[in-house]
Amino acid sequence: MKGFVISDKSVQKSRIVCRKGVLGKALPALLAGYRQAFLFSDERVWELYGARARKALGTIGVHTMPSGEEHKTPETLFSLLAAMAAAGLHRGDCLVCLGGGVVGDVGGLAAALYMRGIDCIQVPTTLLAQVDSSVGGKTAVDFCGVKNLVGTFRQSAYVLADPGFFATLPVREVRCGLGEIIKHGALCPQLFDTLEENRDHLFDLDFLARIVPDNIAFKADVVRRDARESGLRKCLNLGHTTAHAYELLDGKLSHGEYVLIGTYIEAEIAAELGGDRQYLKQLQQLCLAALGKMPRLPDAGQAAVIARFDKKNTQSGRVTLTLPFAKGEYRLREMEEGEYERELVRIGRSLC
Ligand code: GLY
Repeated sequence: MKGFVISDKSVQKSRIVCRKGVLGKALPALLAGYRQAFLFSDERVWELYGARARKALGTIGVHTMPSGEEHKTPETLFSLLAAMAAAGLHRGDCLVCLGGGVVGDVGGLAAALYMRGIDCIQVPTTLLAQVDSSVGGKTAVDFCGVKNLVGTFRQSAYVLADPGFFATLPVREVRCGLGEIIKHGALCPQLFDTLEENRDHLFDLDFLARIVPDNIAFKADVVRRDARESGLRKCLNLGHTTAHAYELLDGKLSHGEYVLIGTYIEAEIAAELGGDRQYLKQLQQLCLAALGKMPRLPDAGQAAVIARFDKKNTQSGRVTLTLPFAKGEYRLREMEEGEYERELVRIGRSLC
């Protein structure tokens, strides 16, 4: 068992536990400390784990959302808030989020808003949610065509990460988690070496279970030092400007797959700007090992326009990128939209 604590002085502590069998043991033990708990999940996860959760937790109130990123909306949020109100939740009660990144983001935001904030326990069931989205207190829904436009920073009281959930993950979900894991590798030399050494085992569930705690520890450390993304935490946006642009434009793949594409493309941009070519090639090979092959990408010009509207961009006509640069090194770089578009077109042609 591994444990980490994030203490965001202005908000609250988050205890993160990596352990097997959390539905049967750790979760019921934690909920015994609350007057009432309410569980939020999505339809797919509930079909897989609902019976086990019911057996362990008894007569807990449950609300499920339809599965999929496209449901990360204010409507889903308000339907959950209505269910929490109907269940009579009070301030000392707790919301359990059982599912992937979308459930965690929407549920985390509902817990932050309900009665100005009740405790949230995250039980992330996907690789991506365990290594990234459940850790660090970012909660949000998409709004007005912008990813994560409406949300809060609020640490969950607990995150219970159980590698047992990986047994039911489709390969594409593993690929999505690898997007964030390879991003961590681009920021942390030890993680990079582990990934390089195991490039042929990236989809091996035992390997993934072994590297989840190190990924959580890496992210928890970044969040501990900059919970509100005023500086250091921006490193975690590596590859994400391009990822979000193609995600909004194309929408056929999942977030983590676009992160792999975004990291690949931003490595190419960094190489043009003087980054370490040999290392960036290795990083790209890791992205390709996770992706299988590079999918066809839609029109680069449109992607550049969309990137300008990313909420990370404060100056009109400019695009902000967190670029991988050398082993363990990243660079924050602002580019004119035109220059960024030319880079996307150049790289897009080289991929055809
Ligand atoms: N997923 C990036 C962050 O939590 O900051």
